[in-house]
Amino acid sequence: MNSSPIGIFDSGLGGLTVWREVRRQLPAEDVIYFADSRNCPYGHKSADEIVVLAKNIVDGMLTAGCKLVVVACNTATAAAIDELRQSYPIPFVGMEPAIKQAALNTRTGRVGVLATKGTFDGRLYKETSRKYARDIDVMVQIGDGLVELVEANEYEGPQANPLLAKYITPMLEHGVDQIVLGCTHYPFFKPQIERMVGPEVAVIDPAPAVARRVSDVLADARIQNGADHRGTDVFLSSGSVDAMENLLKSITGRNFSRSTTQLGDTEYESLT
Ligand code: DGL
Repeated sequence: MNSSPIGIFDSGLGGLTVWREVRRQLPAEDVIYFADSRNCPYGHKSADEIVVLAKNIVDGMLTAGCKLVVVACNTATAAAIDELRQSYPIPFVGMEPAIKQAALNTRTGRVGVLATKGTFDGRLYKETSRKYARDIDVMVQIGDGLVELVEANEYEGPQANPLLAKYITPMLEHGVDQIVLGCTHYPFFKPQIERMVGPEVAVIDPAPAVARRVSDVLADARIQNGADHRGTDVFLSSGSVDAMENLLKSITGRNFSRSTTQLGDTEYESLT
């Protein structure tokens, strides 16, 4: 079990922001990353639909021997993590909007959360904000259109800034000093958002905390890979790997080779 891979999946390429942290913090672990780009975005799908998609991915990851699966998608975590935990014998780590961190750090008492409709509708978001942000003024904003820009590899393109300004300016006018990125696609916009908000406003990406959680869960279950192993990565997509390849090149600075990889009953285009 210790040398088995970790599975990480997202509706598309957003979970690569989580993969990046897992790779940094857990260099000895092998990773299978799955981007469900053919079905992206998940943000406005029903919870039932997302459960079916997530179970299909996890079935494949189990046949590949994954010892733990990271649901690197806030929307899929909101819709499906309870069902996944009940249905499979392996540990799952999901995304939680970092409201606790924002509530602890705010000086103005006002925080902004940018996420998808599915995330805001879920039980987890409501519970987390009830628990940690009862006395905090939380301004929520659905980030429609941002996921699509990342999937098209246009997150640094001319459409991004006007859309970000539309979502972020009202938060600034409201006096927030913390902005939580509650969708794993959004950290790709973090440099632009930070330029927009200036140094007084913290922009929170939950990925480092999620990678720490993965590390803790592996350690508690004593299923870490041997420290001398150099972790490998395989990236699969249910859509085309073109955008994923460009994105991976820009975040890692290295080249990838293309092939096909079987996951469950299906062959997917893949990168290694
Ligand atoms: N990365 C997903 C999330 O964290 C994007 C959701 C979507 O596909 O709309 O919520």
